[in-house]
Amino acid sequence: MRRLAISGAVLALTLTGTATASTVLAPGRAPDEAALAPTRGPADRSIEQRIDQLLRKMTTAEKLQQVQLLSDGQVTDADAKAGVGGVFSLTDPAKINRLQRIAVRQSRLHIPILFAYDTIHGYRTIFPVPLGAASSFDPDVARADARIGARESATVGIKQVYSPMVDVSHEPRWGRIVEGNGEDPYLGSVMAAARVKGAQGRSYRAPDRVVTSVKHYVGYGQPEGGRDYNTTDMSEQRLRNLYLPPFKAAIDAGADTVMCSFNSINGVPGCANPYTETTILKKQWGFDGFIESDYTAVAETRACPPRTPDEGPCGHGTAADGPSAGAAALMAGTDSEMVSTYIRDYGKQLLAQHRITKSRLDDAVRRILRVKFRAGLFEHPYVDQSKASDPASFLTAADRRTARTAAARSMVLLQNEDATLPLDPSADTAVIGPLADDQHDVLGPWWGQGRDEDAVSVLQGVRDGSTGTTTYAKGCSLSNEEPPAYDPADDCASDSGFADAVATAQAADQVVLVVGETREMSGEATTRSTLDLPGRQEDLVDAVAATGKPVVVVLLNGRPLTLSGVVASAPAVLEAWFPGTEAGHAVSDVVFGKVNPSGKLPVSFPQTLGQVPIYYNHEPTGRPCDVTQKYVSRYRDLRSCDPLFPFGFGLSYTTFSVSDLRLSRTTMPRTGRVVASMKVTNTGDVAGADVAQLYLHDPVASISQPVRRLRGFERVALQPGESKVVRFTLDASDVGFYDNRGKFVVEPGTIEVYAGDDSTATLRRTFRVTR
Ligand code: BGC
Repeated sequence: MRRLAISGAVLALTLTGTATASTVLAPGRAPDEAALAPTRGPADRSIEQRIDQLLRKMTTAEKLQQVQLLSDGQVTDADAKAGVGGVFSLTDPAKINRLQRIAVRQSRLHIPILFAYDTIHGYRTIFPVPLGAASSFDPDVARADARIGARESATVGIKQVYSPMVDVSHEPRWGRIVEGNGEDPYLGSVMAAARVKGAQGRSYRAPDRVVTSVKHYVGYGQPEGGRDYNTTDMSEQRLRNLYLPPFKAAIDAGADTVMCSFNSINGVPGCANPYTETTILKKQWGFDGFIESDYTAVAETRACPPRTPDEGPCGHGTAADGPSAGAAALMAGTDSEMVSTYIRDYGKQLLAQHRITKSRLDDAVRRILRVKFRAGLFEHPYVDQSKASDPASFLTAADRRTARTAAARSMVLLQNEDATLPLDPSADTAVIGPLADDQHDVLGPWWGQGRDEDAVSVLQGVRDGSTGTTTYAKGCSLSNEEPPAYDPADDCASDSGFADAVATAQAADQVVLVVGETREMSGEATTRSTLDLPGRQEDLVDAVAATGKPVVVVLLNGRPLTLSGVVASAPAVLEAWFPGTEAGHAVSDVVFGKVNPSGKLPVSFPQTLGQVPIYYNHEPTGRPCDVTQKYVSRYRDLRSCDPLFPFGFGLSYTTFSVSDLRLSRTTMPRTGRVVASMKVTNTGDVAGADVAQLYLHDPVASISQPVRRLRGFERVALQPGESKVVRFTLDASDVGFYDNRGKFVVEPGTIEVYAGDDSTATLRRTFRVTR
C-alpha cells in the first residue's frame, strides 16, 4: 500500500498495487516507484551559487532580456545575441541550434535559451485529447502520453512544454474543456501529477525529458458565458477547493514552470495578480520555478486604447499603458513575458522611477536561470540534429501501440441496448458519417507536429479490424473553416447524401456511424453556443437508425454534447473523443470487442444546454430539486434535474457489482486515518475493467459542502466471476476543506462515504471526525 501525495496538506490516494496502480498500459507489472518520486531537482547549492555569480555579472539590460519570451515568428538573431530568455513554437532543430549557438557563443554571458512548445496530447505521435485521457481514470494513460510527447519534443530541441493544462471546468460551451481533465479537482490532480512525472521523469535534465508548465493559472476554466478569455469571479473557497488543487498537485509532482492565465479573477488579471502568483503559488506553496505569461496576457491588462501608442492587444483596464502593464505583471509575480515586450523595453525606466524593484527583477531572473540549470542547458545546450532528422526517432511502432491502447482506454460506452456491441468482425460493416473517413479531425485541437496522413481513420480501422466487407457513405460534410470564414450553416446542412447513407446501411449487416465535431470546434477560441451535434447530424443518425440495423454511433468530439435525441434513436453510443493518430484502430478494437470499454465520464453530460453549469460536485441548496414539487431548485420544463449521463459513468460489455463497503473504524481523530474498502466483482461473462469510485460528503459544516466529492478511484481489471477488494486511505486532507479566508479546516462531525462505479453511487457508510 503506497501513498501518492498529490495536493493539499497530505492529500492521499492509496494504491493497492493491482494492475491499476501505475503501470496499467502494461497490465500486471509492479508499480514503478521511480515514476512516483518527486521530479524537482533538489535545492542545489551549487546551482544557487552559479546563479549568484551570473547575477553579479549581468547588466540590467541582460536581466531584462532574460525575462523575455518570444515566439518563433518574432525572434531574431539579434535577440539571441542580446541574451533572450526563451523562445516558443520553434521546432526546426537546425534553427534551434543556430539560435542557441548565437546565444551561447555570442551573447556576453553565454546563457542558453530555453525552447518551449505546446506538446499537449502528443508531439508527432498524437494521443487522445486530455479530456479523453481523463476518461480512462488511469493515470498511466496520461503518463504515457506525456512521456512520449516529451521524448519526441526533446528530440528536436524543445526543453519546456506548455502542459499539463489542468483547468477544472464546469463549462462545456468552452472549447478548452477538451484540454483538461473535466469537472473534478481530484481526478484532475491525479492526472496532472501523472503528466508532470511522465514528461519530467526523475529529472528533466535527461535528454529525453522536458520541464512542464502547468496552466492556465488560474480560474480560466470558468469563463462567464463559456466565452474564451472571459471574466471569472469566484469565492475564495471555490478557488481553493475546486480550481487550485490540480495546480498544487502538478507543483508537488515537480512542475517547475507555470503559465498565468488570460482571464481576470475577481477583477484582477491572471498575469498581474499578486495574490495568486506570489502569495499562494510562491509563498504558500514554496514554488521556486518561474511563471511565464500566456500569449500577450501582459499587454492585455492595458486599457483600450492604451495611453501610449504601442500597438497590440489591450482590454482588462488595470494598466493604463505598456510600462504600467509590465510593472504590474512583474511586481505581481510574473517572471517571463510572452510575446509582448514591456518589461524588457521599459524595465530600465521603471527601475529608475521605482515602479519595479531590482530585487524582484533579480528574483525573476534567478527563477529562470534555476530552471535552465536544472534542465542541464548550460552543459548540453544543443540538440543532436542527426537524431532529430532521423524519421525513426518519431512515431515508432511501439509508440503507436501505446497511443492505440491509450485511445481505446479513453472511450466511454454510453449506451448498448440489446448488446448491440461488440459487433461481429466477420460480418459486413457499413461505415457512415461526416467523420467516418477522416484523418484530420481525429487528431484533436493540439495536434502538435502530428500529420493527417499518419492518422488512421475509423473507416480504415474497421477495414483493418474485420474480415467482412466494409462499405462507406459520408452522409454529409462538416466545415473545417475557421472564423470569420466559418459558417455554421455549412455543417451537415443538406440531407442530399442521406439516401445513400441509408442504402449503404441497409445493404450491410451492421453500421458504425461516425458523427461529432471537427477539431476546429474544440480547443482555444472555439466556444459554442449549443452543445448539439452540429448541423443535421442528428437527422442522419435518425435516418440510419431507422433502418433497424445494429447501429453504433461513434462520437468524435471535445466537449459534453446534448445527446438525448441520439440515445433515443441509436441502440449503441460510444464516446470516442478525439482519439489521436491511432483513432481508427482504437475504435475498431472497441466496437469489435478486442478491447472491452472501461472509460468513465470525467464531466457530466447535460440533457439540455439550459442545465449548464451542471456538475456532480455541486453544493446543496435549501430547496433541493424534486420534480414533484414547485418551490424547489428545478427547471419548470424538465422532468428530471439529473444530467443525461453523470460524472463517472460508463458501461462495459460485462457487468460489475460494487459491494461490501467497509470502514476500518467509525471515528477518526483529526490526525488519524480511516481505510475504506469495497469489493468489485465482474458479474458478467467476459473480462473487463471497472473503475471503483469513492465519494465523500460532509453533511454539517461551517460552509455548505458539495453533495459528493471524489476522493479515490481505481481501475480494476477482472476476469468473469473474479472479485477484488480495493482500499482507500482517508485522512484530514480528504475530510477537510478550505474556507473563505483561505484556511484549510478540518471540522469534527459525521462524514458520509459513498462507494460505487459512478457519481450516483449508493453504498453508504459513515464515520465521525473527532477533535
Ligand atoms: C494559449 C496557451 C499556449 C500559448 C502558447 C496561448 O494562446 O492560451 O495555452 O500555451 O498560446 O502557444
